[in-house]
Amino acid sequence: MCGIVGYTGFQDAYEVVINGLRRLEYRGYDSAGIVLDRENASFDVAKTKGKVDDLVAVSENLSGKSHVGMGHTRWATHGVPSDRNSHPHLSNNGKIALVHNGIIENYDTIKIMLTEKGFTFQSETDTEVLVNLIQFFMDMDASLDFPTAVRFALNEVYGAYAITVMHDDFPGVLVVARLGSPLAIGLGTNEYFIASDASPFVEFTKEAVYLEEGHMATISLEKGVDIRTIKDNEKIVPQVQELKLSLEQIEKGGYEHFMLKEIFEQPKSIHDTLRGRLLVEEGIIKMAGIWDHLDRINKAQKITIIACGTSWHAGLIGEYLIEEFARIPVEVEYASEFRYRNPIITENDVVIAISQSGETADTMAALKMAKDKGAFIYGICNVVDSSIARITDAGSYTHAGPEIGVASTKAFTAQLTVLSLIALKLGKHKGNLSNQEFMRLITELEAIPKKVEEVLEKTHDITKEIAKDFVNAQNFLYLGRGYNFPAALEGALKLKEISYIHAEGYPAAEMKHGPIALIDENMPIVIIAPKQGHYDKIVSNVQEIKARKGKIIALVNKGDTQVSSMADYVIEFPETSECFSPIVASVPLQLLSYYIAVYRGANVDQPRNLAKSVTVE
Ligand code: G6P
Repeated sequence: MCGIVGYTGFQDAYEVVINGLRRLEYRGYDSAGIVLDRENASFDVAKTKGKVDDLVAVSENLSGKSHVGMGHTRWATHGVPSDRNSHPHLSNNGKIALVHNGIIENYDTIKIMLTEKGFTFQSETDTEVLVNLIQFFMDMDASLDFPTAVRFALNEVYGAYAITVMHDDFPGVLVVARLGSPLAIGLGTNEYFIASDASPFVEFTKEAVYLEEGHMATISLEKGVDIRTIKDNEKIVPQVQELKLSLEQIEKGGYEHFMLKEIFEQPKSIHDTLRGRLLVEEGIIKMAGIWDHLDRINKAQKITIIACGTSWHAGLIGEYLIEEFARIPVEVEYASEFRYRNPIITENDVVIAISQSGETADTMAALKMAKDKGAFIYGICNVVDSSIARITDAGSYTHAGPEIGVASTKAFTAQLTVLSLIALKLGKHKGNLSNQEFMRLITELEAIPKKVEEVLEKTHDITKEIAKDFVNAQNFLYLGRGYNFPAALEGALKLKEISYIHAEGYPAAEMKHGPIALIDENMPIVIIAPKQGHYDKIVSNVQEIKARKGKIIALVNKGDTQVSSMADYVIEFPETSECFSPIVASVPLQLLSYYIAVYRGANVDQPRNLAKSVTVE
């Protein structure tokens, strides 16, 4: 999950590439590099460990020098983050430059073969092996043209990749290929852009071609975009798409961080998720994705939800929702586990994949496996036309808009919103919900964006204040019951992702089976205690914590007295049905993590070692 940008046209390639890399920094940010091509000169290359700003510091002299170039922002897989391992990588003869997102799994064997032929390697990366393999094919046959050599090399490797390659003897030509990692080609007037997603070129063109799996393209101003299959060199007619993305959506809009902007966007993003689907006056839920398949899904023997990270937490809440309303058994699996065990999946099953990016390698692989077993595949993705969205039989987009902060916020609440719609729709169709109950629930769901707006307004200052007291905390416990147990897991994940404080989420009742041993006056415990949802039981849990002097941060509904009277800190959020309360309760938890991380001086949008979209195993 690295970021790739390429350009050929009339603009200063340095500016286009560097600005593009900044937009793709969410994909990886441990090193960055750029290569520019000038006619009658060898490549200009600059690369460094660190962020795009560090790259600019060592490469500013390249500005204004060329109209063709490409760059890379890295999330290390093979080899530590270092100047040497940064991309682009050059072939031994210095003529071919390559940037790569993904993993070449058989790089070792190829490296041995190339070493025997006299090739040497400067880095520990799999990428350097690929670029030398291209040189190897060109050395073997001097008449071979550059794109064909790339194609030959790609037919020798397996793994996952998106690559962009330049050859010094073919100025102005960019060769790109994709297998498993995304790549978009922006079609401007007298200019072409390449990028891992469309954000680097959205201000220059609204026309893009998303390269399909197993395809490659040769791009030049003279000949345009020539797309072929990697395997057989079959010509493909490009499918041009109009981009819906706006520049505003991918900029910070006055907020200090993308994460804060995205937290504050939630009333709108949830509203957008519901728009056109939840028609309260007509008393219906209209979801194009599910409409044609209601019988198929409702007859499922079992629904398996597969996901990773935050999306997996959304899946757990989805389990509660679907089992409660649709009465279909649900299992929630980590995609990475599911794909490597031998799960029982039949053609009577439905598998739901949840993924913000729609590109997560483990989720993708798990889905393919379930598809091979004949299950009906449903996708819940945020990124339109992403790989996962394309391989599913049906699905619903979350419509949260681009999420750039690495820690997921608005995508999570949008996933919960879609899952609520699906569960209620299935429940109604199956006759499990009376008209009256259905109307009550959808009316409440419609009110959620307003409640999220209210919770943002009322808890912003409080969470900011509370955060100050926990800047030096070493550990945190998050507790919740029922629907709010997964919300506690997500709260803990948010904190550890961006503040690096160790945090664990637990079902509140499970506390006495282990975590209670950790509780003393130094242990902060966040407890989610809404009125609706095992409140009395939670009260007992709070008493147990109090007796052991734990520091209690309680999330309660407005007007709460019992839990509040025992808590050290109180955060109030508006009351709603238990099934929707994780949507509202998650918001102050996001803010709390955000401010703790900010006060600790952490890079909130780009936490260490993480990346937004994990396109490798
Ligand atoms: C990465 C991100 C997480 C995200 C997970 C799953 O680990 O850092 O924030 O939840 O991937 O991503 P997906 O795009 O499939 O939801």
